Amino acid sequence: MAGRLEGKATIITGGASGMGKAMAHLFAAEGAKLILADISGKQDEVAASVNTEAYGFQADISNEDDVKALVAFAEEKFGRLDVLCNNAGFGGGMAPLHEQTTELWDKVHSTNIKGAFFGIKYGVISMLKTGGGAIVNTTSASGVVGWKHHSVYGAAKAGVNQLTKTAALDYSDKNIRINAIAPGTIWTGLVEASKTHAEPPADFPVLAGIPLGRWGLAEDIANAALFLASDESKYITGVILPVDGGYSIGFSGMGAERPGIVSVNTDGT
Ligand SMILES: NC(=O)c1ccc[n+]([C@@H]2O[C@H](COP(=O)([O-])OP(=O)(O)OC[C@H]3O[C@@H](n4cnc5c(N)ncnc54)[C@H](O)[C@@H]3O)[C@@H](O)[C@H]2O)c1
Repeated sequence: MAGRLEGKATIITGGASGMGKAMAHLFAAEGAKLILADISGKQDEVAASVNTEAYGFQADISNEDDVKALVAFAEEKFGRLDVLCNNAGFGGGMAPLHEQTTELWDKVHSTNIKGAFFGIKYGVISMLKTGGGAIVNTTSASGVVGWKHHSVYGAAKAGVNQLTKTAALDYSDKNIRINAIAPGTIWTGLVEASKTHAEPPADFPVLAGIPLGRWGLAEDIANAALFLASDESKYITGVILPVDGGYSIGFSGMGAERPGIVSVNTDGT
């Protein structure tokens, strides 16, 4: 039986770790051909481990020339680009706004929003040549609701949500769909607690604010990305899909305490 992404030429940024790596394995199992882009140098190792035609490409998504070269590499290898997951990003320092620095603002925004802008721009330029495609951006619940101490990061991710909606309109008549996933608290190397706990701890304070009561897993995000990348979502564009265990609903129910709004990049308190 054909896979849900059979033969689709796909780029995943941040493909060497966490959600991007989970997407790589799932997409490969569904028949996609992959370019895994990452700044870390670990992308070739992951590309060699997935069960499909896959290549690593070292790129810093905040660098326009790198993103141009990344898309050109996909065109060289596959002759086209069908799916682009703009997933690379990082949290940055979490602190009250007045303690955040201009340097941090520039660093966080150059990857988390400028990088997404470059990805959408050059992804679209390629897809326009072949008649369409699907772009899936990884943003954050902190770009949907307020998240204490996440002002700089949250502003960048909120910006990507808006880029997603506007770009979806720009290319709605060109058969290019552009959607986003807004993850909540997902157990990856980006989460500070993963440095002290080998497995997602079941009794962590952050879980009190998650109606479904558990950490999200990279696979939860990969499943959503697969849906938005595949033709199953062909009537969906400009959507910001929360994958957060219900976190962004805001309240867990009548009479229940308001869920805590806490940072995942601290010790969880
Ligand atoms: N883990 C969470 O709780 C969480 C929550 C909301 C949003 N997110 C977002 O999800 C996405 C994936 O993060 P993750 O949790 O899988 O983290 P991760 O650290 O496991 O993976 C992120 C990958 O992106 C790469 N990367 C970072 N900056 C880059 C750059 N400038 N150019 C190229 N590659 C770069 C890293 O090397 C890494 O391999 C990010 O955009 C992140 O902001 C994560």
